[in-house]
Amino acid sequence: MIITGKYPNLRLRRNRKTDWSRRLVQENNLSVNDLILPIFIVDGKNKIESVKSMPGIYRHTVDKIPLIIDRAVKYKIPMVALFPHTSSKLKNNSGLEAINENNLICKAIRLIKKKYKNKIGIMCDVALDPYTSHGHDGLLEKGKILNDETIEILIRQSLLQAEMGCDVIAPSDMMDGRIGKIRKALDKNKFQNVQILSYAAKYASSFYGPFREAVGSKRSLKGDKKTYQMDFNNSAEALREIALDIKEGADMVMIKPGMPYLDIIKSAKENFKIPILAYQVSGEYSMIKNAINKKIVDKNIIIETLSAFKRAGASAVVTYFADEVAKFLE
Ligand code: PBG
Repeated sequence: MIITGKYPNLRLRRNRKTDWSRRLVQENNLSVNDLILPIFIVDGKNKIESVKSMPGIYRHTVDKIPLIIDRAVKYKIPMVALFPHTSSKLKNNSGLEAINENNLICKAIRLIKKKYKNKIGIMCDVALDPYTSHGHDGLLEKGKILNDETIEILIRQSLLQAEMGCDVIAPSDMMDGRIGKIRKALDKNKFQNVQILSYAAKYASSFYGPFREAVGSKRSLKGDKKTYQMDFNNSAEALREIALDIKEGADMVMIKPGMPYLDIIKSAKENFKIPILAYQVSGEYSMIKNAINKKIVDKNIIIETLSAFKRAGASAVVTYFADEVAKFLE
């Protein structure tokens, strides 16, 4: 970069001196179009229950979902992400509830699509962890997570979600080869227009703790996810993961967690011409929310963190603040 001129003629503060001027030279602009709202769904009727580890976040029964979607549609949030809290009675070793057409996710997709048509997009995780008794994203045999056998059930889960009306299939388990296989199966079954958002670079992270309570997999999880999720020391590997998923047919890729991984978002953006999404995960949410509630920081911190994602190059951010921020931006 060449800098011409020097102080005292050159003064960068000139552009910052008034509000209008700061707005004029602003390089990024957070809008409601950048927000994806996660929704936790729980079994039963007429129930809204709080998630202990995530202040301000609730699980809704399917019949209560319109309360949230009405608001999301009003604010023009482009997409919601659905996550089920599956009763432990329905969990087993192979996570078969994932392919039950009357599971919570399927019921929720049907309701939302029927009531809201294409006014809002629906994205669903494709992974087994909300459904397995051991809490892992894949099939577990003799202490090992099986790759290829897991892909077979993920394909069926993807096809089922697509059939229900899911717009964006989001494989989030970090298995090898799944994007290509899922794309092929979708195309073969006339779901050519269903988008795939690959959680291409997902790290084995302690920031997921509160989410696991929210979906009820915390107590059941045995061990960690380090044989499939990425080591947080690595960044070249993230680019390899992304390159492979793009080659296999991903329409968008996700980096997760969010804020501690802005470097990955930025280098993904520089290296690939594909929409890069970020996930400000549950641990990030709860830390920020607790600090705001305790008045340690003021709530502008929310906009600041989301703007940081934009600056790093994210096209959109999955955030538990989506609702609150959309209201604020309105
Ligand atoms: C599981 C999944 C996880 C999250 C989204 N999908 C957790 C995990 O991998 O254990 C975490 C999201 C969050 O923490 O907000 N496939």
